[in-house]
Amino acid sequence: MTRIVVLISGHGSNLQALIDAQQRDELGGGHIVAVLSNRAEAFGIKRAQQANIPAEHLSHRDFAEREAFDAALMRRIDNYQPDLIVLAGFMRILTPAFVQHYAGKMVNIHPSLLPKYPGMHTHARAIEAGDQEHGASVHFVTEGVDEGPVILQGRVPILADDTPDTLQQRVHVLEHQLYPRAVRMICEQNPT
Ligand code: GAR
Repeated sequence: MTRIVVLISGHGSNLQALIDAQQRDELGGGHIVAVLSNRAEAFGIKRAQQANIPAEHLSHRDFAEREAFDAALMRRIDNYQPDLIVLAGFMRILTPAFVQHYAGKMVNIHPSLLPKYPGMHTHARAIEAGDQEHGASVHFVTEGVDEGPVILQGRVPILADDTPDTLQQRVHVLEHQLYPRAVRMICEQNPT
């Protein structure tokens, strides 16, 4: 069993896709042992509770320094002895110490065809650039924001009448298929 800790900040629809895949036994032996959020109001916490997964929040606002928050978060995460850390809409810039602590065992999903469009507003940027397609990438987390080796990508066409919102919705549907597939691949390749 691969012990997975999922980090979220908000809606948690990717977390839900992972929970659903686990319940269908499609996570390659992966098991979500905890969900941690940096926001108390994150809806993803309710999703975890509904699935009987331990869920905690640790507010970054309670810490003066980014390093202190990351150190406290690491301690919370490590209580669950995870094999894999899955960032699912965890909207924080991570300190080098945090990234190094989980080197090779932390993954993220980002709504673009990396290396295109790291950062925010990826859907609007792809439309503005006149791109024909957009998508999502699952990648290992390294020190650069939205960088690191890509594990899996999925693509969607950009339609003539797309707005950032309609494109975001189409990419979100794609993400919900892509992330469980990527996590399953990782768990199957690294049986514990
Ligand atoms: C997802 O679209 C994910 O790709 C994005 O946040 C959203 C979270 O949605 N992550 C990033 O932009 C990371 N740079 P969710 O809370 O419904 O899963």
